[in-house]
Amino acid sequence: MEVTKVLHMNGGIGNSCYAKNSLLQVILMTKSITNKVISTLYNNLSPGETIRIVDLGCSSGPNTFLTISQLIQTIHEECKSNGQQQSPEIHVFLNDLPSNDFNTIFRLLPTFYEDLRKQNMGGDGLFVTGVAGSFYTRLFPCKTLHFVHSSYSLHWLSQVPDGIESKKGNIYMASTSPPSVVKAYYEQYERDFVNFLKYCSKELVDGGCMILTILGRKNEDRFSK
Ligand SMILES: C[S@@+](CC[C@H](N)C(=O)[O-])C[C@H]1O[C@@H](n2cnc3c(N)ncnc32)[C@H](O)[C@@H]1O
Repeated sequence: MEVTKVLHMNGGIGNSCYAKNSLLQVILMTKSITNKVISTLYNNLSPGETIRIVDLGCSSGPNTFLTISQLIQTIHEECKSNGQQQSPEIHVFLNDLPSNDFNTIFRLLPTFYEDLRKQNMGGDGLFVTGVAGSFYTRLFPCKTLHFVHSSYSLHWLSQVPDGIESKKGNIYMASTSPPSVVKAYYEQYERDFVNFLKYCSKELVDGGCMILTILGRKNEDRFSK
């Protein structure tokens, strides 16, 4: 079963939508690291060069915009501290699976641009593009991106491991699962992550950066949450 075809966060703006149930603190937790990365990238840009950023697994809702406004704010601050009058043009790619609610994102865009203008963070030199597709495939031409950002998305696999549906009652990892189920998930994750890195390494410019926030465990217990 391919996750690409079935997975999506609840769209829209109702009570069960992802927009109202997501974890803003995850993005805020990585803020200081993101700031450092953006500063480095900014200082390595050639004059007049557009900075190109992707948020992989952007979903639809406040987190989508929180992430990119944080990145834009950092670029503007960096620019000011360097005494520059004008920020570089910024091209932000918002990526998610085709079934993501991109319509909600696009409808919120005018308000987002307006808010940026009110905060004197431009809006004119900012270009936001939706990119529908799996990050386990190539999404961009070679050497397109300066910065790859992804939060809370890369623990989704590209597919349910082959053959797992036939293991009755053991379709996910639980303490009673046979080792073959654990192995199948482990190997699927390894394959997916290696592919992901392979594609990103082509899509990033030389010296480009990535910040990936992924769910993890603090102990050796595979079944611990
Ligand atoms: C929990 S949401 C995270 C959203 C946001 N980045 C955040 O931090 O709140 C995970 C997102 O990853 C997307 N996703 C999962 N697998 C993906 C894939 N292979 N390619 C692109 N997006 C994917 C899902 O559709 C979902 O919108």
